[in-house]
Order: sequence, then C-alpha cells, then structure tokens
Amino acid sequence: MRSSIKSTLEKNALSTVLPLILIVDDNHDNINVIEEMLEQYGFEYYAVSDPLTIQDVLEYRKPDLILLDLYMPQQSGLDTLTIIKNDNRFESIPVLMLTAETDKHMLSRCLDAGAMDYINKPVDAVELQARIRSALKISSLTKDLSERNEELDRKNKEIQKFTATIVHDLKNPLTVIMASIDFVRNTLVETKQTLPVQFADMIKETTFSMRDSINEMLDVSRIQQGAFKLNMVKASPVDYIEKCLFRLRLLGNKKTITIVHEKKDVPHVYYDEKCINSIIMNLVGNSIKYSNPNSEIRLSYEVHADYIRVLVKDQGQGMTDKDLSLVFKEFQRLSARPTDGESSTGLGLAIVKSVAEAMDASVGVSSEGRDKGSTFWFDLRKD
Ligand SMILES: Nc1ncnc2c1ncn2[C@@H]1O[C@H](COP(=O)(O)OP(=O)(O)OP(=O)(O)O)[C@@H](O)[C@H]1O
Ligand SMILES: [Mg+2]
Repeated sequence: MRSSIKSTLEKNALSTVLPLILIVDDNHDNINVIEEMLEQYGFEYYAVSDPLTIQDVLEYRKPDLILLDLYMPQQSGLDTLTIIKNDNRFESIPVLMLTAETDKHMLSRCLDAGAMDYINKPVDAVELQARIRSALKISSLTKDLSERNEELDRKNKEIQKFTATIVHDLKNPLTVIMASIDFVRNTLVETKQTLPVQFADMIKETTFSMRDSINEMLDVSRIQQGAFKLNMVKASPVDYIEKCLFRLRLLGNKKTITIVHEKKDVPHVYYDEKCINSIIMNLVGNSIKYSNPNSEIRLSYEVHADYIRVLVKDQGQGMTDKDLSLVFKEFQRLSARPTDGESSTGLGLAIVKSVAEAMDASVGVSSEGRDKGSTFWFDLRKD
C-alpha cells in the first residue's frame, strides 16, 4: 500500500481538489494502517518516516494537514512540531498529534506549542476522519478570518491616510479666514461699528476652535500611525497648565462655571506640552460641558513617590459604574449629556488616553455616581 515518498508526492502534486494529508511516523506499520484509513475516506496523502527531513518535505509539497507521531527516535514529535510552527512558511498548517501518550502534561505541551488536537493510538478510522475534517474546517475558517483581518487593516490604514489628508488640507483655508477676520475686525473697530465687531469676535472664536479640532485630529492620526513626535521636557507642568486654562475659563464664564486651579510647587516630571494641552482641553472641557451653571471645577496636584497626579474634579452629572468602564473607549456617549447644547462625538477621552500613553502617562477616573460629580486624573512620572 505504501508507495515511495517521491512517487506519492508527484502523484499528489497533480491533485489540488482533495485535502492532502502528510503522515509523519517512524513506524512503517502505523503509516500503512493510517494510509488505508485515509484511502477509505478519500483523502490524498503522503508519508515520511524520518522527521529530520520535515522542512524539505514541506517545501517540496505543502499539505493541508499533518498527522505527527509524538514519539520518534530521530527527533520527537514535539521538537518536529516546534520546527514547523517556528517556520512562517508552514506555521498555518494544522497539526494533529498521534499518540498512545496518557501523560496529559506532554499533550498539553504539544497543544501549547501549536498542535490543533491529538488522536489516541491505536487510531480509530471513524475518529480519524472526523478529527481531520474538523481540523480542516477550523483551519479554513481561521485562514478566512485572518485574510479578512488583513483586508480590514489595509482598508483602515487607507481611510486613516485619506482622513489625515483631508484634515490637513482644511488647515490652509482656515489660516486665510483667521487672517482675514482680523483685518475685517480692525476695520470695524476703526469705523466704531460695535455690533459687527461682536460677530467678528464670534467668527474668530469659532475658527480658533475649528483649528484646535483639526490639530487634534492630525495628532491622533499621527499617534495611530506611530508618527507622533514628542518633545518631552522635565519641568513643573503647573504654569503650562495655567496657560491651557486661559480659553477654558472664557468657556466656563459663559456657563457661570468657576475654574479653580490650586497651583503649588511640585517636583519636576516628564511631559510634552502639546499632549498636556490636549488632555487639559478635553478633561476640563468635558467638566464644563457636563456640569450645570454655578458649579465649580477644581484642578489640584498630589505628589507621590514616583509621579505627580493632576486631578480635575467637577460637580457635574457624574457617572454610573457602566459609564466608568466605557469612558476611555472610542465613540462612547454615556449617561451625562451636554448641559448647553454643546456637541458630543464621544472621542475626546479616547484621544486623552492615546495622548497620555504616548507620554507613558496613565489616566483614570472616579465618580460616586449620577449627579455626584466626577474626578479625572493623569499621572506624570518623575523618571
Ligand atoms: N466630566 C464628566 N462628567 C460626566 N460625564 C462625562 C464627563 N466627561 C465625559 N463624560 C461622559 O463620557 C462620554 C465620553 O466623553 P468624551 O470626552 O470621550 O466624548 P464627548 O465629550 O461626548 O465628545 P468629544 O469627542 O467632543 O469630546 C461623554 O459623552 C459623557 O457622557
Ligand atoms: Mg469630550
């Protein structure tokens, strides 16, 4: 029954329809028995008795599945399996171990090393074909899935690139609008036209906020593409944070929300200014957005052995336990809703997390529940 490896390989090289099974077993009698079973169930097959030749054999003809004996004098099944799984040309081929082994420890090592399953010897024909079919099915589903993942990854990258290009192209016209509005405003001031000056200010403010969003989106796409250039400094972040608060205080004033900054001397820590600006804009911006008028937002500092913690505490709508578990994920709009019709896309805190991670800083949040305020924080490391 058993033909020579070469002639069987040649025979199988012509066939692409039936699944091709490779048997690796040092015992010729075992090979004969299994070949008969495979023949009976209509599989194509070939066999090798010397596991040391495995790579040459696989290179010559790649099977759809390998039946691999666990105990072979030349090289154990586990070592042979490890060679197959460490070779990226062959790692995706499903491997079923053939074993009389009752030692579960050894079997578990084989499964850890990448075997899909095992078949006990003496091999039962019905079990053999059932396990081969199920392994082939799993392997084909896994292949489909990984092809789809690759395709999605590729499309995702294209979309990211496309979005970044559009966002980038929005910057230039915006710069022209910003320069022109200054000119218009100055002319209006000179001719003492008070009401149009107010509108000019509003256009300017809105344009600034569009520019901030565009810069933020560009930063996020750079983070996603691993091209975000950090400029880490070691200093106290307190004065820089005060600068970031300037525009937020104007926003807060509109809703009669007070921002209290408990400035104090803190040890020097590592940070990047653009990242800190993005984090403060989002955290304090959210506190303003999700708080009612006449409330307070407090920024404070805790000094710990290895880091300082910057806390942003508000008296707003607070969060449920479910909100807390989702809050740093993308596109999450949770139970709190903007109190003055502000926009909400559910992206800000996901950006905060990426930006903080880029600086090797951690972020966190706590809330005692709905309507009990929220406290967000981020930690900046000393070393
Ligand atoms: N300080 C806060 N108090 C209560 N809920 C908050 C607070 N900050 C965020 N949330 C909740 O978490 C959700 C996600 O916030 P996130 O900043 O990611 O997005 P957003 O504010 O909805 O939109 P944007 O992308 O414009 O920031 C918000 O929709 C809100 O329900
Ligand atoms: Mg937000």
